[in-house]
Amino acid sequence: MSAPGRPLAIDLFCGLGGWTEGFLANSYDVVGFDIERRPYRAQLVLQDVLTLHGSQFRKAAVIVASPPCQQYSYRAMPWKRVRELPPPDNSLFEACFRIREEASQAAGRYIPLIIENVRGAQRWVGRAAWHYDSYYLWGDVPALMPFPVDGRKGFKPRFEDTDFARFYSTTPERKAAVAKLSKIPFPLADHIARVHLP
Ligand SMILES: C[S@@+](CC[C@H](N)C(=O)[O-])C[C@H]1O[C@@H](n2cnc3c(N)ncnc32)[C@H](O)[C@@H]1O
Repeated sequence: MSAPGRPLAIDLFCGLGGWTEGFLANSYDVVGFDIERRPYRAQLVLQDVLTLHGSQFRKAAVIVASPPCQQYSYRAMPWKRVRELPPPDNSLFEACFRIREEASQAAGRYIPLIIENVRGAQRWVGRAAWHYDSYYLWGDVPALMPFPVDGRKGFKPRFEDTDFARFYSTTPERKAAVAKLSKIPFPLADHIARVHLP
């Protein structure tokens, strides 16, 4: 899966490859998994993450994952109808931990996992360890983490946290705009990649 001498990173729900770009910049080989094909700079496998068995990632140095956030964002809205919804399905989030567990067991060593999602996910999956702007992080988040350059002053909530037109519109243009806004910022991806260099 990776060239000799180069560490391997696995990017689950890779989207436009924000995580991937940070790892490539730090000389990792990267394999990304998604159910949709988008512009992506590394090896892309079109596969549902739920169907993956982690043992195939035994050579990975690190796994990163950004499961879809719509159901958490939506439930965080201050709308009455949202309170009547059933709890969200956490299976994609949970699959990341299962895959990491299977990978670690097959490798005989601990393989770190970092999951990114929205603030609203905390109510359903537990408190995040850190956040970088609106990118909330769970799992093996390093003790030292970067702050966004402009800090809270320049804080802009992600479009998907504020504008729910996307729930009523599935046009390709709208989907492309949302994918762009969900892309992991390079400084965050670069930091995680550096910290996990073997
Ligand atoms: C929040 S976006 C990922 C953003 C990405 N980290 C980036 O930097 O661009 C979530 C991605 O999960 C993908 N996805 C949704 N359900 C999936 C599934 N069951 N298996 C694999 N990918 C899935 C979507 O197609 C979407 O690209």
